[in-house]
Amino acid sequence: MKARNPIIIANWKLNGDIDLLCKSVASFIRKYFKADVVVCPPYIYLREMLSFLQYSSVAIGSQNVSKFESGAYTGETSAQMLKEAGCKYCLIGHSERRSMFRENNQSCNIKVKSALDSELKPVLCIGENAEERDAGVTRDVLFRQLSEGLEGIEFNGDDILVAYEPVWAIGTGNAASADNAEEVHCFIRKEIKALFGRDVAEKVRILYGGSVNKTNAALLLEQKNIDGLLVGGASLDPSHFMEICQVAD
Ligand code: G3P
Repeated sequence: MKARNPIIIANWKLNGDIDLLCKSVASFIRKYFKADVVVCPPYIYLREMLSFLQYSSVAIGSQNVSKFESGAYTGETSAQMLKEAGCKYCLIGHSERRSMFRENNQSCNIKVKSALDSELKPVLCIGENAEERDAGVTRDVLFRQLSEGLEGIEFNGDDILVAYEPVWAIGTGNAASADNAEEVHCFIRKEIKALFGRDVAEKVRILYGGSVNKTNAALLLEQKNIDGLLVGGASLDPSHFMEICQVAD
């Protein structure tokens, strides 16, 4: 058994509808997982999903959070609102937000602080793109994303999660190999140890994301430093996602 409880997170991105919500909820009803299972649907479905899942062991998370608390920020949703809606987790700094919505390590840092202030567990997403990988600067990129994203934060180890999602693996069907992912996770844990100390590094859960499916999930999760999976495309098929959750159990 792993020292850190595995966690599987579904990120629906801008996908799904009421039909998927119902099918997904139906697949979770009366299933209890030892692993933590979290679904991050679009904001509009959060309340409804929670109302169906409140007696299940599945938690709800958001795909993003505003860096603002309140005010004239049309279209934004604050950490406090997400907390009130029943979210336990929130993704921060997903590569799609970084590349398409101009998020950077500084805005991620503000969002992580805001999530923690509202007692949400932030899942800080980090990862290099193909050019950075090919230029051999993966470790520099990850270190900057980690150290700047978590700057000035009192990190206990289990209040923040880190997701390693190599951008080149997202939505491509080309997942990192288990060996390659393990090597990077090991590096991330080592850097967390250097920044926050041994206790935090031993407690923090580091997830892998990028073309995870029911075929590669088991081998990824067997790796010592891979504590969970962040699943995009495969989470849109409830029975496929259920198989991934069962691998973690
Ligand atoms: O956050 C999950 C993600 O970006 C991976 O997506 O479709 O490659 O599993 P996918």
